[in-house]
Amino acid sequence: METQIVKIDENNISEQDIERLGKIVADGGLVAFPTETVYGLGANAFDDKAVKSIYTAKGRPSDNPLIVHFADPEDIGMAVREVPESAKLLLSHFSPGPLTVILKKNNDISETVTAGLDTVAVRIPSGKTARALIRAAGVPIAAPSANLSGKPSPTTARHVIDDMNGRIDAIIDGKDCDVGVESTIIDLSGEAPVILRPGGVTYKQIKELLPNTVIDRHVLEAVSVKDQPKCPGMKYKHYAPNADVTVVEGDIERVREKIRELIRENKDKRVGVLTYGCDEYDADCIITSGTDNRSYAKNLFRELREFDENNIDMVFAEFAYDDDFGLAVKNRLYKSAGNNVIYV
Ligand code: TXA
Ligand code: MG
Repeated sequence: METQIVKIDENNISEQDIERLGKIVADGGLVAFPTETVYGLGANAFDDKAVKSIYTAKGRPSDNPLIVHFADPEDIGMAVREVPESAKLLLSHFSPGPLTVILKKNNDISETVTAGLDTVAVRIPSGKTARALIRAAGVPIAAPSANLSGKPSPTTARHVIDDMNGRIDAIIDGKDCDVGVESTIIDLSGEAPVILRPGGVTYKQIKELLPNTVIDRHVLEAVSVKDQPKCPGMKYKHYAPNADVTVVEGDIERVREKIRELIRENKDKRVGVLTYGCDEYDADCIITSGTDNRSYAKNLFRELREFDENNIDMVFAEFAYDDDFGLAVKNRLYKSAGNNVIYV
């Protein structure tokens, strides 16, 4: 399949281009598009055949449900049975933005989108291009991250082209993603709100509005295939570069000492370090992801791909400074490392 690559400047969106891309989605095609979190791979949420083709293009297991994207919070009624007060409150504060809420689905949303669950994930991205595309399509857009299943989520158009060129109808070549990790997912379909995936909206921010919010135990635990986490995506190995990743966590000075020791033990390998800004390592590739966890998150997926471009065999990733945004970083790092973590 020939994939069109269409440049879109979010501050000057070509009406003609976005209408054409919207029509591709409305007619059952697949279009990758930028959001503020990561790039998404979009299909008409009401077109079962189109939604199924997402799973094929990504190589994604079909028991992993998709998020349905809307241009405006008022539109989510198209997918859900009712909007509880808790959802109204969160959406009024954080939407459009990096938040996904899980609610009871209505009958217009098919089981292909929700992988057989009776709930649906809905999100209103704040990215201007994403919202313009949804409006142009005239339908909600079901979209996972636009990476091949198992690879780090794409945060630049280049990543999407690397993974999806030739597999889908079109790729929007837009700006790099600001948040850099996927949206926070919160399940509001049960008794208490449960965070299923940490992201751009933090636990602390949510707790201020909904004090009984809890974090699902799978967020930071190893998940075996036999296990049935509430968020099916959590049971798959994720965000993994080709290199073996080890997270070293704890006091930053001890973390750095430990990584230097690990580098000495692995002299025969090509070794990379992901750091908060320390260059005192005798490694083949040292990448600073950011100096705090918000910037670490923004760059993380891009850097994980960069180690592969440098043919690195082993990556040691610093993790420290467990601040408000740390949970999102920690969750992605643990997954990219297949839960291979050393505490110091
Ligand atoms: O930031 C984001 O959320 C990006 C952009 C493109 O919007 N999307 C994204 O989609 O990360 P994806 O498919 O890579 O991750 C969606 C996650 C999966 O782990 C899936 O299992 C979970 O959401 N999910 C979807 N529907 C669900 C539901 N009804 N109940 C529980 N988890 C659900
Ligand atoms: Mg994904």
